[in-house]
Amino acid sequence: MDSEPVTITPCPDGPLLVRGDFTVLTAPGREETATDRRVVALCRCGKTGIPPLCDGSHRAVGFRAPAPPPAEPSEDG
Ligand code: FES
Repeated sequence: MDSEPVTITPCPDGPLLVRGDFTVLTAPGREETATDRRVVALCRCGKTGIPPLCDGSHRAVGFRAPAPPPAEPSEDG
């Protein structure tokens, strides 16, 4: 049975939502972050108390995510 591809979705001014069948490795040679969830939120503000997961601290610190790159122009113009 094929699994669905893993997707990563940036939340506006918040974490990265990872969906699918994945394993989070915290560092080479260290334990993985145990999860049986199919969706986790990874911190990208650097202020979480439970790295690498988001604990909602981004709201308290007023994290602002960088703007996404502009869309590629389509061939249709
Ligand atoms: S993105 Fe939520 S605590 Fe960092």
